[in-house]
Amino acid sequence: MIRRVLCALALCACSPGEATWRTTAEPDAARVAKAEVARDALGGALLAELQQALASGGPAQGIQVCRERAPAIAAEVSAEHGVSIGRTSFQLRNTRNRPPAWAMDSVREKADSPRFFESSTGALGALYPIRLAPHCVVCHGPPERIAAPVREALSASYPDDAATGFEPGDLRGWFWVEVP
Ligand code: HEC
Repeated sequence: MIRRVLCALALCACSPGEATWRTTAEPDAARVAKAEVARDALGGALLAELQQALASGGPAQGIQVCRERAPAIAAEVSAEHGVSIGRTSFQLRNTRNRPPAWAMDSVREKADSPRFFESSTGALGALYPIRLAPHCVVCHGPPERIAAPVREALSASYPDDAATGFEPGDLRGWFWVEVP
């Protein structure tokens, strides 16, 4: 059964008519500018809501913001800026944050500088590294340094959480942006 689903997904991923992607060292400047504005909008909004939640309700509230607001803010920014945007990682907390197909190789390689891609339809794909800041350790640090109630709240929402064990300065993941 699982195999059949995987096959269906694989077929879907390379069905005819779908854009093909290649890396580029000379991305279209206007699209890059658009990608960066959207990235800053998502990063800024997430950080502002997270800090407010941490200040008012502690990590439990913060987890709720990340769980409920992160996807919603990404959808809002996508609509407002006419792009697709999200966050991804090689160690995911939420398995829904898997990278788009064009970013897969860079995620595997843990690319630690921005990477750009171009599709056969002229779209831009941009990948921007996210590093761990000191205050992220509360929820992404080594498990033994995450407070017990936070650990419990995380495992209740994310039974397959792989997003711990990071130190400040570590590559945590990426913002990905697709600009049509
Ligand atoms: C209060 C706890 C908390 C803090 C603090 C926190 N995060 Fe997260 N983080 C989460 C949760 C919960 C998710 C899953 C969000 C979702 O469901 O999409 C997440 C997801 C992510 C993701 C998306 C990839 C994935 O693993 O699903 C990235 C990237 C990320 N966090 C980076 C950071 C960075 C960088 C900081 C510090 C600026 C930070 N986080 C601070 C709880 C936290």
